[in-house]
Formats: sequence, C-alpha cells, structure tokens
Amino acid sequence: MSFYRNAVWFVKGLQEYTKSGYEAAAKQFNTGDLDVNLGGRSFVITGANSGIGKATAHEIAKRGGIVHLVCRNKERADEAKEEIVEHSKNQNVHVHIVDMSSARQVWEFAESFSKSNSIHFCVCVYVLVLISLTAHIVMMIITPLLQITVSSGGMLVQKMKVDDLQSEKGTFDGTMAYAQNKRQQVILTERWASQHKEIHFSSMHPGWADTPAVQLSMPDFHAKMKNKLRTEAMGADTVVWLAVSAVASKQPSGLFFQDRMAVPTHLPLASSRSSSADEEKLQAILEQLAHKFKP
Ligand SMILES: NC(=O)c1ccc[n+]([C@@H]2O[C@H](COP(=O)([O-])OP(=O)(O)OC[C@H]3O[C@@H](n4cnc5c(N)ncnc54)[C@H](OP(=O)(O)O)[C@@H]3O)[C@@H](O)[C@H]2O)c1
Repeated sequence: MSFYRNAVWFVKGLQEYTKSGYEAAAKQFNTGDLDVNLGGRSFVITGANSGIGKATAHEIAKRGGIVHLVCRNKERADEAKEEIVEHSKNQNVHVHIVDMSSARQVWEFAESFSKSNSIHFCVCVYVLVLISLTAHIVMMIITPLLQITVSSGGMLVQKMKVDDLQSEKGTFDGTMAYAQNKRQQVILTERWASQHKEIHFSSMHPGWADTPAVQLSMPDFHAKMKNKLRTEAMGADTVVWLAVSAVASKQPSGLFFQDRMAVPTHLPLASSRSSSADEEKLQAILEQLAHKFKP
C-alpha cells in the first residue's frame, strides 16, 4: 500500500504542488481577497524567520497587522524582524524566542503570551509545529479567533499510527515520521473544529516551495526539482489567504486547503482513514503527555 500511496502522491505533486501547479490554480484566485487592512489585529506566527513563515509575516505586516514572530534563534529572528519592518514600514513586529520542540517552553510561551495579549482577537498561524503535542498545548491555552496549521501534502501517504506516536517501531524513517506528524495535525484540526466552535480552524499544504528546509533536509529532491519549485511567496499564499481573507473565514471550520481550495485529506483507495476511536485515543494521549510538561 505504501508503494501505491507514494506513487499516486508523487504524480499528483508533479501536477499540482509545483510552480506550474500554483500558476494554473492562481488563474481562479480573486486578487481582491487579500485587499484587507489588518490594523489592530494580532497574528502569532511560528517558524517566522525563514521560508513560508517569513513570507507570511511579510504579507501580514504589509497589511498593517500586529505581528508576533515566534522563533528559536534570536539572531535570525532579529534579522527577520528588521527585514520585515524595513519592507513593510510596519513597526508593530515583535519577537518571541521559543524552541517549538520543547513542550515546556511552548507551555511557558503560551501562558505568558495569553496573559499579556488579547488572545481572543488574535490569529495563530502555526507554520512550524514540530510535534503534534506542542500544537495541542498551545491549543489548550491560546484560544484565538482563527488557527491555521501548515501541514503538508506528504501526510497523504500516511495513515495515523496511534500505537506508535514516537516512531519507535520498525526502522526509523525521518521523512515518514514527518508525514505522520503532518497527518496527525490534519486529524487534530478536524477534531478541534468539531469541539471548539468559537475558533475557526484550517490546515493546509503550501505545495513544494524552494526553502532552506527543502534545500537542507531533502538535497536530492531539491537538486532534481529546483526549477519546478514554488517561490516562498507562492508557498505562503494560501496561509495568508486563510489568515486574512473574509472569504476564507466563511469556509467550514476544520478543512484542509491547497491553493485557496478545500481539498480531500485522503488519496483515492489509499486506506489511510483512521477510526474515530483511534482519533479519540490520539487526543487523549496528547492531553496526558501535555500535562507531564506543565511548568
Ligand atoms: N517548503 C515546502 O515545500 C513545504 C512543503 C510542505 C510543507 N511545508 C511546511 O512548511 C513549514 C515551513 O517550512 P519551510 O519550508 O518554510 O522551511 P524553513 O524555511 O526552513 O523554515 C522553517 C522555520 O522553522 C523554524 N524552526 C525549525 N525548528 C524550530 C524549533 N525547534 N523551534 C522553533 N522554530 C523552529 C526555523 O527556524 P531556525 O532559523 O531557528 O531554524 C525556520 O524559521 C513547515 O511546517 C514545513 O513542514 C513546507
């Protein structure tokens, strides 16, 4: 089954996830959707000093939003802030240093941020959620108006494995562990949407964009595909659309988007759906784990 899923997914990717896939989809975009003044609205963006996260922060700052860059490296975060302020002429850009792989740091950040900011009017854009656990922690503390999680089309090749959430069984494969987490994020988005009606949730796939992550983590893929990859701005387009456009916020909560359209979360005949009992178990395990890291 995994050979079937991988093959179908790659052919789909060549048609849809590339730069030409974006250009074809963009013919249907309504450019007016992004003509929005974001003055007074706050946006928390993780993974914001590079790639899709930085491109998203740029677009939001250009429209006057209050931008909170959540980054792990102070130097790179400050550089990104300077660049965004210079290009957008928006001084309302703030840096928060958090290692998103540390559940404890994520707790501490979410708690202190929620005390000092009006979180109920803010938008959380999780460009980078390293493990589903950290998304769950932030979700429990910060209850924004909108929550967008950047997942990946790569999740289509995975069925959620609730009995092996730490990828301990069999031979470890980093790419598949990544895709497994991205699958979990899509499932969690659907479940949160059905449980928290006051928040509008979406997950999305940015397509294949030429970013440092792709260059460094997938050098062979990057070398073969570099002329076909999207720009960072193209990868960020649907993130920005979900975060700012009125049309996007009228879509049902909990959907998975690609190029401003809700798209299926399973490949045809891929047997990748999990049972609702397994999805419930995933949430229960994350909740238990999250409490272990509570400061
Ligand atoms: N590019 C694609 O084709 C593609 C496709 C599908 C999905 N995605 C998703 O898009 C998102 C953004 O990726 P990208 O391609 O834009 O990559 P990128 O340019 O490498 O950006 C990744 C960002 O995540 C930050 N980061 C990494 N580990 C972190 C940690 N432990 N704590 C806090 N921040 C951390 C990095 O900060 P540092 O500078 O500190 O490393 C960087 O700002 C990811 O969720 C990725 O899975 C990308």
